[in-house]
Amino acid sequence: MIRCGNLERDLGIREIYVKYEGDNPTGSFKDRGMTVGVTKALEVGAKTTICASTGNTRSSLAAYSAKAGLDCVVLVPSHKIALGKLSQALIHGAKVLAVKGGFDDCLSLVKEISKDPRFYLLNSINPFRLEGQKTAAYEIYEQLGDVPDKLIIPVGNAGNIVAYWKGFRELKLLGLTEKIPNMIGVQALGASPVYKAFIEGSDKIKPMESVETVATAIRIGNPVNWKRALRAARETGGMIGAVTDEEILWAQSILASREGVFAEPAGAAPIAFLIKAAREGLIEPDSRVVCIVTGHGLKDPDVVLRRIEKPVEVEPEVDSVLENLSATITEQT
Ligand code: F0G
Repeated sequence: MIRCGNLERDLGIREIYVKYEGDNPTGSFKDRGMTVGVTKALEVGAKTTICASTGNTRSSLAAYSAKAGLDCVVLVPSHKIALGKLSQALIHGAKVLAVKGGFDDCLSLVKEISKDPRFYLLNSINPFRLEGQKTAAYEIYEQLGDVPDKLIIPVGNAGNIVAYWKGFRELKLLGLTEKIPNMIGVQALGASPVYKAFIEGSDKIKPMESVETVATAIRIGNPVNWKRALRAARETGGMIGAVTDEEILWAQSILASREGVFAEPAGAAPIAFLIKAAREGLIEPDSRVVCIVTGHGLKDPDVVLRRIEKPVEVEPEVDSVLENLSATITEQT
């Protein structure tokens, strides 16, 4: 957990923390669930694991399957593949098939294929994945000495928000805490069926056929766990929000330049929502807020390189270096 003192001052909020899931073995929160899921695959004698993925699930499944000596098959959308994630799945030796369609098509396919007992399905429909992911809620409790007032978390297939909610409910059941945080899920506006159902007060989502967002990890139009995600938000006094790609990229820069934390776009979505919500007065100033930064920025370097100015080329001479620094260096007083 990283305390964000600069953001606290910028936004006028008492306590802001980032739970940085980029520090997990394959660089995202998926490892928490995958270590449990792959252990269960071994327990039932599976030989081949399978998943659909926008990127991180497959990187994690490929790594844990490699360690366990299992074959691994992953189906990914053929477009919008983040480079870091693709290289991970390939180096760990997974069989990667790029499906001419989106994540939702990939998921339908693996659900059908895994009816064959030779394949062990490890998407978040697999309950053991969420059992692993909920441990992050325990860690937050341990690290803060209590649960926060608000938890802000990106929502794609909607498994992780459900896992955290379960973790917090268990802490309450055990009498370790009296409250459950307001669970605030954040979708990218271009892939936001749960957000739309939330603001319409509807009990059902309308799956989105065409989805588009720079946050490719959460580019999902028909999330599996939507029902429990809506309940998590409603029953805890939280909400489901949405942010634009511009807001996500801005937040990614702010988090990196103000706090030294490099998030992939989906992982920056909670920060984008926090900035917006703080400005709109939706977050009480004396709140203790935890944002879940779900994946490392190096997963998707292209997004940054596409929009940030490239380095200036200089001669290998002191004068040439200093000339180009005149606008940057601060005079010592
Ligand atoms: N953040 C990142 C970095 C992700 O990779 C994902 C999901 C989410 C947030 C959303 O989590 O689906 O539990 O609501 N990535 C999946 C994948 C879909 O295939 O890697 P969720």
